[in-house]
Amino acid sequence: MAFPYQRNRRLRATEAIRDLVAEHHLLPTDFMVPLFLIEGERKKEEISSMPGYYRFSLDLLIEEVKDCYSLGLRSVLLFVKVAEELKDNEGAEALNDDGLMQRGIRAIKIAVPEMYVMSDVALDPYSSFGHDGIVVENEIVMGDMAVSHARAGADMVAPSDMMDGRIGYIRERLEDEGFKNTGIMSYSAKYASSFYGPFRDVLDSTPGFGDKKTYQMNIANSQEALSEVERDIEEGADIVMIKPGMPYLDVLRIVKDNFNVPIAVYQVSGEYAMIKAAAEKGWLPHDEVVLESLIAFKRAGATLIATYFAKDAVRLLKG
Ligand code: PBG
Repeated sequence: MAFPYQRNRRLRATEAIRDLVAEHHLLPTDFMVPLFLIEGERKKEEISSMPGYYRFSLDLLIEEVKDCYSLGLRSVLLFVKVAEELKDNEGAEALNDDGLMQRGIRAIKIAVPEMYVMSDVALDPYSSFGHDGIVVENEIVMGDMAVSHARAGADMVAPSDMMDGRIGYIRERLEDEGFKNTGIMSYSAKYASSFYGPFRDVLDSTPGFGDKKTYQMNIANSQEALSEVERDIEEGADIVMIKPGMPYLDVLRIVKDNFNVPIAVYQVSGEYAMIKAAAEKGWLPHDEVVLESLIAFKRAGATLIATYFAKDAVRLLKG
């Protein structure tokens, strides 16, 4: 039926009808909150390239997790900043059952047991070279690291290193050690992106040599993401992730159209920094742009969104 009988504007006339016919909604359970843990006490350090975002010592991190929980957020994605003297090229500290990550996981699960804890599994914060893997026996270290996190109580481990075959290996090690219910969220399609800069400042993990182009995906490719995802699902990934977010919405969409597992997307540090910087200058309206960027992920097919705006978003959604 043609105009004037069909008028698309009828369904846009008021806020009520717009909400009633909205195809997507944002919920607190859509978000994973990335958290940065540091050694010390009563420490809350603002990250200069990520205004309004902080690194916390464990005591204050627990307060932060409680706050997130009370806002309705149900999952955190934990990263640690490792002391320089503990870094080497074997990732020894990554396997320390009493390391910062392991203590962090245990403390969160004791303080807020219902919070779903995901832990980053990669060696960049532990490596003197700032790379995600090590040259020798990488899989073994990743597997042992995942087991150590599971033992500390992690609900799900999140390998972000992009080394081939590590999902299968980690799954096998978790099964062997009796952690059959510990999940794996794989950073399946993680691009060699320039949007990670602020994050590397956070953890002091800028590569000491070279770049990550031999293991992270080529920014020019999208079909290749399908083979990465397929392999990770075959190897036992429960959730697959696309990263970064906004510049890769097309990738999110094709993965959604081709697979039936939950898909996570990571709105990375550089995306956060861009929005913050433009808002600070008065060039963009902060709250509206935040919500627009997040609904775009839902539209493109994301089940879960890792975002530094998680707390802002739930506050805004509550109105
Ligand atoms: C590395 C890792 C990175 C991020 C998460 N895990 C950076 C990198 O690959 O160098 C980036 C997250 C962000 O920029 O917010 N294991």
